[in-house]
Amino acid sequence: MTALGLAKAGYHVFLACRSETKAAKAVSYIRQSSGNNQVEFLSLNLASLESVREFVRQFVARKLPLHVLVNNAGIFNKSGTTQEGFELIWGTNYLGHFLLTYLLLDKLKQSEQSRVIMVASDLALQAQELRWKLFVKKTPLNFLELYTASKFCLLLLTAELTRQLKETDVTVNAVHPGFVHSNITVGHRLSKFLGLGISPEQGAYGSLFCAMAQEMEGVSGKFLDHQAQELSLPKLAQDEGLAKELWEKSLCWTGCNFQNRVSATNYSQYNHIVGSHRLGFTPQEMTEIANTIFQEVLPKSPDRLSILNSLGFLLKGEFGSAFLLLLQLFKQEFHMERHLDSSVVWQLCQDENLLKELRKYLGEEVALWRSELWVNYPAQQLIPFWHRDYYPKLLTPTGKTVSVYIALTEVTEFNGFEFIDDEAMTQDLVPKITDPFSGNSFLEVPEELEEKAIRVVLQPGEFLLFTDDLVHRSVCNTSGKVRLSLTLRVTQPSVKILRRYSPKFQKPVLL
Ligand SMILES: NC(=O)c1ccc[n+]([C@@H]2O[C@H](COP(=O)([O-])OP(=O)(O)OC[C@H]3O[C@@H](n4cnc5c(N)ncnc54)[C@H](OP(=O)(O)O)[C@@H]3O)[C@@H](O)[C@H]2O)c1
Repeated sequence: MTALGLAKAGYHVFLACRSETKAAKAVSYIRQSSGNNQVEFLSLNLASLESVREFVRQFVARKLPLHVLVNNAGIFNKSGTTQEGFELIWGTNYLGHFLLTYLLLDKLKQSEQSRVIMVASDLALQAQELRWKLFVKKTPLNFLELYTASKFCLLLLTAELTRQLKETDVTVNAVHPGFVHSNITVGHRLSKFLGLGISPEQGAYGSLFCAMAQEMEGVSGKFLDHQAQELSLPKLAQDEGLAKELWEKSLCWTGCNFQNRVSATNYSQYNHIVGSHRLGFTPQEMTEIANTIFQEVLPKSPDRLSILNSLGFLLKGEFGSAFLLLLQLFKQEFHMERHLDSSVVWQLCQDENLLKELRKYLGEEVALWRSELWVNYPAQQLIPFWHRDYYPKLLTPTGKTVSVYIALTEVTEFNGFEFIDDEAMTQDLVPKITDPFSGNSFLEVPEELEEKAIRVVLQPGEFLLFTDDLVHRSVCNTSGKVRLSLTLRVTQPSVKILRRYSPKFQKPVLL
């Protein structure tokens, strides 16, 4: 009905829908009812960030102005995850629309007096807090919290965009369509037979008013009901800090904060990083190795060992480490597990090409003191903080050490790690938190410097060596696929492993 209203007013209308069959019916109905033939379908699945990007590419290629963007699509009681691993309701209703709007911002700014309409809901006014963790997993039983949060996030986005677009010709407003006889649930479908709710035409009034009414010219940041009456926003929806935080997180979740980042495939120009090199395994062997690790190594949770270690940490007062271990056990998600005892990992450590590069760097005798399988699940971030792999409380500084990063699945700019080149570093970085166990610190990195970070890109079986001077962190995985890698910590035998490092995890070995 919103599209019909726009078509009747003479707009060239694009229906962005996931079902071509349903869209074809709607297009023909709208053309007939409005007498306007400029009504088209463009494919868009909001539950896939990839589809949103493709939609924007297709729309921009048409070289048309964009005067009205109605973020209308929504789901209520569905369950699951989006293609990239976000919770389905929130990912569709909010994150897909965030990316769509973000990627169309330039287009909107270039077009005269353009208007963005967020179709929210009055339920958004009931949000009490944003539980971020819920957005990166499957829909819980209480799906209503996710629906409420998704619409509340649209209100925060409306406010944030209003602030950011103050000096432009673009306005952003939100609407609550009312209780509409739509298809969103069986209840909504039946409501008209029970004499409840309003018709789709009435439900579209608020959106059309925001899109076309003269009264809305230059007006931004409002939340209107289906009669275009303003709804007042609770304090939480006006929280600038929260809106900014959501904006930053959304940029990260959609990979937009990295738009200008450089990706490297040739590392020879950088200090502290050597490679990339290839293990001697064929691509097919690499796939088999990764599958074995996924199917046989990772599910074998080292429960007994982890519980013993947690108790050890607790006794020593290292509550953070104990908590992390117990959390991994509870969630059965081993982001970082030690598996030197697994034959398949041992097979990787024995690779001739790897040993040749390690010997070039460390000399003939190469000691491996720790191995870590890193699993970066979609939509989550493994070790999100900038750090160096420097362990003063675990090793004596009596020789060289190096880390090996082996890609077991594809490492892309959207799921791997990034580092800061020495050339870009103009000041010493200040430690934020220091881990009492290893002596390693997370570092404060100014935003201007973060902007200059370089992304690592590797094929399965490729590896890099990096020194403990390299400042790096893993990136939030927005690729939709699990990333698996193996990191080996290697030293010269002259380096002593201090007693603090528990050999219960694994014993140092000569390679
Ligand atoms: N109805 C109400 O009482 C009410 C109240 C408050 C707010 N709202 C909001 O109003 C908006 C419109 O909903 P409605 O009531 O008209 O429900 P609807 O009849 O179910 O329409 C929702 C539309 O969103 C589309 N959609 C769902 N997931 C999509 C995806 N991943 N990609 C692209 N399109 C997708 C659906 O496409 P398919 O046909 O392919 O499923 C459908 O055309 C929603 O944002 C809803 O939250 C509705």
